[in-house]
Amino acid sequence: KHFEPKILPLKGKKVLISAGPTQETIDPVRYFTNRSSGKMGYAIAQVAMEMGAEVHLVSGPTSITPPTSVHVYQVKSADEMFEQITKLYNDMDIIIKSAAVADYRPKETFNNKLKKNDQNLVIEFERTKDILKYLGEHKLNQYLVGFAAETDHVLEYGKNKLVNKNLDAIVINDISNKEIGFQSDYNEVIILTKSGKQIKLDRQRKTDVAYQLLTSISEELRMD
Ligand code: CTP
Ligand code: CA
Repeated sequence: KHFEPKILPLKGKKVLISAGPTQETIDPVRYFTNRSSGKMGYAIAQVAMEMGAEVHLVSGPTSITPPTSVHVYQVKSADEMFEQITKLYNDMDIIIKSAAVADYRPKETFNNKLKKNDQNLVIEFERTKDILKYLGEHKLNQYLVGFAAETDHVLEYGKNKLVNKNLDAIVINDISNKEIGFQSDYNEVIILTKSGKQIKLDRQRKTDVAYQLLTSISEELRMD
């Protein structure tokens, strides 16, 4: 899509996007992570830039080349992601948290490679900080968007996250549907807004989902 320079809908807006998985270190050769490819977040970064925004992309480890003229901050762990995002937060107008942040990390990180033994291995995990919840609690005037990955009670759980994390909108992914989501170039989501909108986006390219999401955000910001 091409936008006329005069009608760039996100011109003058600073947009912070988090994308990809996080990696939680176990020992020098092993980590704990998830199936996120980062494609959804990178698509949002690309389209936000085309819509005229100043884009800051905080990314976990992915194999995607970031769009040019986007500020990129590469991080690994949930903790590093928290530090980078909170550093940028107060200066941003819109935050979109599409990253799949690990909920748990190994309680202990081993400096030496764990050697195998004849028994089972038990690794104890502890909770990471909920970055999005923290952002909701420390919100000034930012428009805050979360993602929700659900396999069941999709709308109900998604709505709970919108409310509990003090978000302005949430993008709900039904990850029980194997044809879309994580590794795919396609997604099918429902956007719920605090203002009461419910936008169902049928299966389409992630760049088109990104466009619909950013258009909804820019419309809501214009109504303030
Ligand atoms: N999130 C976050 N920090 C975490 C965990 C999640 O910022 N430590 C954010 C994600 O980036 C996403 C939103 O919270 O935007 C929802 O993530 P999700 O995994 O669907 O929900 P959780 O709140 O972690 O709850 P659960 O995994 O138990 O469903
Ligand atoms: Ca989670």
